[in-house]
Amino acid sequence: MALLWRRLKLLVTVMMVNLFIFIIISRQSNQDKNDRNKVQIPSKPFWSKLAPSVAYWNRQQQVLDLQNNPVLVANYSLADTPEWLNETGLISDPCQPNVRVTTQVKDYNSLPGRFKDFLLYMHCRSYPLMVDQPAVCKKPPFLLLAVKSLAPHFDRRQAIRQSWGRAGLIANQTVVTIFLLGNATAGDHHPDLSEMLRYESTRHKDIIQWDYRDSFFNLTVKEVLFLEWIQRRCPGAKFIFKGDDDVFVNTFRILDFLKGLSEPKARDLFVGDVITNAGPHRDKKVKYFIPESMYVGMYPPYAGGGGYLYSGDIAARLHNASQHVALYPIDDVYTGMCLRKLGLAPEKHKGFRTFNIEEKYRSNPCAYKSLMLVHPRTPQEMIQIWAWLSSPDLNCQ
Ligand SMILES: *[C@@H]1O[C@H](CO)[C@@H](O)[C@H](O)[C@H]1NC(C)=O
Ligand SMILES: *[C@@H]1O[C@H](CO)[C@@H](O)[C@H](O)[C@H]1NC(C)=O
Ligand SMILES: *[C@@H]1O[C@H](CO)[C@@H](O)[C@H](O)[C@H]1NC(C)=O
Ligand SMILES: *[C@@H]1O[C@H](CO)[C@@H](O)[C@H](O)[C@H]1NC(C)=O
Ligand SMILES: *[C@@H]1O[C@H](CO)[C@@H](O)[C@H](O)[C@H]1NC(C)=O
Ligand SMILES: *[C@@H]1O[C@H](CO)[C@@H](O)[C@H](O)[C@H]1NC(C)=O
Repeated sequence: MALLWRRLKLLVTVMMVNLFIFIIISRQSNQDKNDRNKVQIPSKPFWSKLAPSVAYWNRQQQVLDLQNNPVLVANYSLADTPEWLNETGLISDPCQPNVRVTTQVKDYNSLPGRFKDFLLYMHCRSYPLMVDQPAVCKKPPFLLLAVKSLAPHFDRRQAIRQSWGRAGLIANQTVVTIFLLGNATAGDHHPDLSEMLRYESTRHKDIIQWDYRDSFFNLTVKEVLFLEWIQRRCPGAKFIFKGDDDVFVNTFRILDFLKGLSEPKARDLFVGDVITNAGPHRDKKVKYFIPESMYVGMYPPYAGGGGYLYSGDIAARLHNASQHVALYPIDDVYTGMCLRKLGLAPEKHKGFRTFNIEEKYRSNPCAYKSLMLVHPRTPQEMIQIWAWLSSPDLNCQ
């Protein structure tokens, strides 16, 4: 009897608790219904006020974005410029060293020299052409191979001419090869190779050289100058490959791939070994180190600078976009930033092996047949692999 009574008490308690919860929930939802009919005013402003970034590059980009804002541009006056922008804007001659960065970047004095050099000349985008090939695209090529090289790399350039960069007609398509050079300057203790370069250029007519210091952090300058050069000298190129002089490119495979593209795909083409979800290295010992005072945030998707392939149409659009993107010391990331500005992203293709292939396949001719690019390869290896791929006896199954 006592057991039954206790069970009944428990049952009643549980029911009471349930009823209580039900009342609380229904009151809550009634309140929600009432709130929904009221106008909701957010406690904070919807648009946050533009505040200066802590990092110099990001601040420069904020200035450019403001100056090129299509809404403001129609009616923009200097007086509207926020005060923090005045410190940065309006440099009278962008190619004179901008000494104001020395105070605007907070740890400027403790940065490695290459950052100081970069920051001082970050606003300069035009350097004189010392060697040009005005007629190289007289007949617009199907494929323009543009190779980033350094003045002393004579052997690499010659190996490319004798192998994958053999200009002329490959697989019935016109291919033009050019080499992009800056100046290997005496300041960097380079020997004076100008006479030999002059000979090489007369002999092969494939050297483009600008008068600026050819350094790792100036590769973005090379990129911007090249985009400009294409519009002036080679606007009719249907496709462009841009890469380093220590890669092997399977030109046959690339031409084959390009011929198979549909028209819309061909127009928006940008393929390579794409890196996503990357950000700046903060370890001072890494070649790609970038300090927080210079850049904050992630990188947009970008194709590794060893080599990538894009359409002439994209080249024209990149040329426009680059004028609205502040120079960044890492050239392939910069190109990714310009693509992002255009609302595009590079596409990953398995044929681009900027991190090499497995060791056991490296001396197997058939391993290269379906690839487009392998990095790194020496001049001798380039000639060897090209001979394999050109041989009519090559039989891969
Ligand atoms: C520019 O601003 C002036 C005065 O602030 C205004 O009268 C004019 O309509 C504006 N023009 C445009 C294109 O917004
Ligand atoms: C920014 O500089 C311009 C010209 O140098 C000046 O007219 C303007 O008042 C300045 N703006 C501010 C907020 O200081
Ligand atoms: C090469 O191209 C020309 C002109 O475009 C064409 O007439 C010829 O048939 C092509 N040859 C081959 C082997 O595709
Ligand atoms: C580039 O090289 C030329 C010729 O060798 C030289 O006259 C010029 O001063 C160099 N430019 C720079 C920036 O060092
Ligand atoms: C880039 O080139 C310019 C012009 O020659 C030079 O003054 C500057 O120091 C170079 N920047 C770097 C990071 O080497
Ligand atoms: C580049 O910009 C110019 C001027 O704004 C414009 O006329 C041209 O159509 C643009 N070209 C491309 C390819 O977007």
